[in-house]
Amino acid sequence: MKREWWHGLLGYQIYPKSFYDSNGDGIGDLPGVLQKLDYLESLGVGLVWLSPMYPSPMVDNGYDISDYYGVDPRFGTLEDLDRLIAEMKKRGMHLILDLVVNHCSDRHEWFQKAIEDPFGPWGGYFYLKEGKNGCPPNNWRSLFGGSAWEKLPGQENLFYLHTFAKQQPDLNWENPALREEIYRMTNWWLDRGISGFRLDAITNLKKDLTWADLPADGPDGMGSIFRSIDRMIRRDGGTKNGIGVFLSELKGRCFAPHDAFTVGEASHVDAGLLPEFIGEKGYFSTIFAFDAINGHIRGACYCEDDPYMDPDQWKQDVFRNQAVLKDFAFEANVVENHDRPRAASLFIPKEEYGFASVTALAGLQVLQRGLPFLYQGQEIGMTNCPFLPEEYDDLSTLDNYRYSLECGYSKEEALEGCARMSRDNCRTPMQWSDGPNAGFTSGSPWLKVNPNYPEINVKKQEQEYGSILNFYRRLVNFYKSEEYGEVLTYGSFEPLYEDQEKIFAFRRRLGEKVLTVFCNFSGSERFLSLKEDYSEVIFVNLPQVTRIGNNLILHPFQLIVTEK
Ligand code: NOJ
Ligand code: CA
Repeated sequence: MKREWWHGLLGYQIYPKSFYDSNGDGIGDLPGVLQKLDYLESLGVGLVWLSPMYPSPMVDNGYDISDYYGVDPRFGTLEDLDRLIAEMKKRGMHLILDLVVNHCSDRHEWFQKAIEDPFGPWGGYFYLKEGKNGCPPNNWRSLFGGSAWEKLPGQENLFYLHTFAKQQPDLNWENPALREEIYRMTNWWLDRGISGFRLDAITNLKKDLTWADLPADGPDGMGSIFRSIDRMIRRDGGTKNGIGVFLSELKGRCFAPHDAFTVGEASHVDAGLLPEFIGEKGYFSTIFAFDAINGHIRGACYCEDDPYMDPDQWKQDVFRNQAVLKDFAFEANVVENHDRPRAASLFIPKEEYGFASVTALAGLQVLQRGLPFLYQGQEIGMTNCPFLPEEYDDLSTLDNYRYSLECGYSKEEALEGCARMSRDNCRTPMQWSDGPNAGFTSGSPWLKVNPNYPEINVKKQEQEYGSILNFYRRLVNFYKSEEYGEVLTYGSFEPLYEDQEKIFAFRRRLGEKVLTVFCNFSGSERFLSLKEDYSEVIFVNLPQVTRIGNNLILHPFQLIVTEK
């Protein structure tokens, strides 16, 4: 595998609105990120993904961009961003931004001009279609609810496509002029000194231009646009003549010449498609391994999802993908992001939450083969947050609530679904201390602070040797250490004890170096009859390792790494 500058780094996602507020307006900002660089450095972070900070009406918290060339005043200025890039460089850290180019905001100049002149050049930047007597052109349901088509303002029968909210019109990638605009903008940021991008909703770029109806999959008679996207990716058995045309061009025109790091939000890419998407010949450096966060999603609304992520299912998914990847590429390993519940709540039943369970999950994530990405607050074990219905902010939570009722669920069931699954769970302010508003802001925070902040916060965990935070630091040091960094980065991945329920074990091997990771991801003690001996225990989350003869006794949520 060709060595790349980003191999062996630790990624960290910052959701700027909730990270740290430097000026007391209740909204996290870029100077706030700057003030926390020492903290990120102390965690061993090498690559920071900043969720969107561009000018935006904030219908979807910045994933609706109204100007691709700036910084929203709520977050600071372009100079603040330049300062951030420079300060990070000094520390050997890399900044990547969010490239949101499946859609823009309806406030973007392009869309405003398209409204003025739908058949002129700007109209061609969007998917505008005649409706059927004032009704949408087809029955596609958007991902944030309702039809994926909205009437263009001032028009009786002309609609525009929006995969997400109606304030997020999709950009027409079939139009070369639009693509040129995107490449110009992408290169403008790369030339400014960022190291790459996280690519938002990137597998949505190719649309089914027959615009055929989808089979209805809900009481509203619509079919989720998700299915159409899925079909487009697999068209002709691969991506080469479809979305691949756009993605190769994007790579060739922007990413490759800058040696940029790219990580795709590519939820439609299953194991079979990985070779087309990642690695040296792939469209991107890597994509997120989404099984850990999406693997429990079953139906159209939150109420239908499994309440917890089954660790055995995650294990199988990991083993399957690692077998495909072998040694040609890395996936970006994640257990949470800004769109999902907190991993500590998704993977760990409430009564089992604690140091052992949270650190076991951390160990499994970071020691697998791949590029680990943490999400802010994960490193202190932040959990889902209890919300009153009126405290929710996220548009897709509100839509999911509405749709759950439409699907026949009761209000209580719908609210319970939101409590487990809402994106606001992980968007609550970062818990820096036990002071007012968890030390996030001196003003009034834009979103509720999780009431558990007096127990779960950075300051407290800085002071406790045996805290989750200090475990993460130890884990990251181990992952990047001179002695084990190579094997933990480039070593092969071999599944072990596959048939043992809730035992997640694997071997990492590089030349003579052989490490074995054993983890009991359950709340009960387990005996493991060892198939091969080891010479030394080199890393643990719990102090005592007990062995009786050939039996390794694994305490609840114990993680042990041995060397041969
Ligand atoms: C994926 C992002 O992660 C999510 O937060 C956003 O709502 C959609 N893409 C639309 O941009
Ligand atoms: Ca602020």
